Amino acid sequence: MKGDIGVIGLAVMGQNLILNMNDHGYKVVAHNRTAEKVDEFLQGPAKGTNIIGAYSLQELVDKLESPRKIMLMVRAGDVVDSFIDKLVPLLDKGDIIIDGGNTNFPDTNRRVAALKEKGIHFIGSGVSGGEEGARFGPSIMPGGSPEAWPFVKPIFQAISAKTENNEPCCDWVGNDGAGHFVKMVHNGIEYGDMQLITEAYQFMKDGLGMTHDEMQSVFIEWNKTELNSYLVEITSDILGYKDTDGEPLVEKILDTAGQKGTGKWTGINALDMGIPLTLITESVFARCLSSLKDQRVEAEELFGKKESIVEGDKQVWIEALRQALLASKIISYAQGFMLMREASNENGWDLNYGNVALMWRGGCIIRSAFLSNIRDAYDIDPELSFLGSDSYFKGILENSMSAWRKVAAKSMEVGIPMPSMTSALTFLDGYTTARLPANLLQAQRDYFGAHTYERVDKPKGEFFHTNWTGKGGDVSSTTYNS
Ligand code: 6PG
Repeated sequence: MKGDIGVIGLAVMGQNLILNMNDHGYKVVAHNRTAEKVDEFLQGPAKGTNIIGAYSLQELVDKLESPRKIMLMVRAGDVVDSFIDKLVPLLDKGDIIIDGGNTNFPDTNRRVAALKEKGIHFIGSGVSGGEEGARFGPSIMPGGSPEAWPFVKPIFQAISAKTENNEPCCDWVGNDGAGHFVKMVHNGIEYGDMQLITEAYQFMKDGLGMTHDEMQSVFIEWNKTELNSYLVEITSDILGYKDTDGEPLVEKILDTAGQKGTGKWTGINALDMGIPLTLITESVFARCLSSLKDQRVEAEELFGKKESIVEGDKQVWIEALRQALLASKIISYAQGFMLMREASNENGWDLNYGNVALMWRGGCIIRSAFLSNIRDAYDIDPELSFLGSDSYFKGILENSMSAWRKVAAKSMEVGIPMPSMTSALTFLDGYTTARLPANLLQAQRDYFGAHTYERVDKPKGEFFHTNWTGKGGDVSSTTYNS
């Protein structure tokens, strides 16, 4: 009997996905560039299963049922192209290649189009949830050649995480690189959620002078509220974790954050599309700032940083912080969905935002109770332009407003950096202001560069230029928006 699916790449994610597929009754053919890895896997974790090994791409192809489904679990970038180039001559028309890595979506757009010309279907799929997710149920976000989906759907939906109503956290996202785009936004939101949590931690630790056990208890309590999520849960575990000397391990970890690029891509796409994705972008910059460790150490000395003690009732501050975190999180997701909406419109992907929320409900790193409410919001209004306008989220934003402002103002007053929480509030203040000072900005542009402006008392699309000084000419420059 031939295999149902082939997987190339036996690193952590590849191995665990294969074992997961095997658990669900699929016969998987496993291949790795280095043959020893295949043997190690077959004699190790795959021992006693129905998993078959393949020592060459030809052997892999020969051992698969038609249409062949071959999933690449290799490093994103050139490695994917090199496997595609080697596979294509061995495949038949109608066969399917799937890329399950964290690929930048323009690469997926390109691969879908190039392989289409050769009659091969290509799926670019986000897979989230780390090692445990891959093994027992990840969130899977596939997009690409729609003709391929019916063949892959049963396997992916079987192995994916399920919601409390047993719905699979995997569905077709859209054409081209839509799946990888949605995974990229997932990661951007992951950056935002993590940054928000670290800001709350710093406020509690430095501002309120709390111990790690106290902070752990706070996160345990928060996890019983609307903030219930995987990232809040692991934060409480981390804060309680003691090193061999009994001290909190977290304080022994160097404070420079790494990043593999997906958060940065999210910010770059937001700039390209003109979407004010402030919170996620601030989170990326916060990681960049953290990596300037030596400069920060010198600057603290140079500026003689003062202690940032927050006076007042600790319990009141903790509740204010919870509300500020929740409200900021709403803004982060609202901005992420704005970005997906713009990308969907620009690329004709027809994204279903309720489905995206469902796919993120379980299995992935940002999984949380909150995503059910997002799904409800898009069920009510599939074209919702701002998540914060949905009545459930609007209610939370309004109720949290005063606490959120107090936390933001206090952080500024005492010098605790909270770029994401404060920029989220600033964003909402801007978004809910009908008249911003961009009129003055337009006047400046026209003053120095004759860039023209539109008037509030004339129809949109009619452009005016003023000779502000009486010295310049009346000729305006041609106007365009990038
Ligand atoms: C996931 C994660 C994963 C990501 C890591 C590391 O969904 O399982 O998003 O894909 O690679 O979290 O990302 P950074 O190194 O950029 O923090």
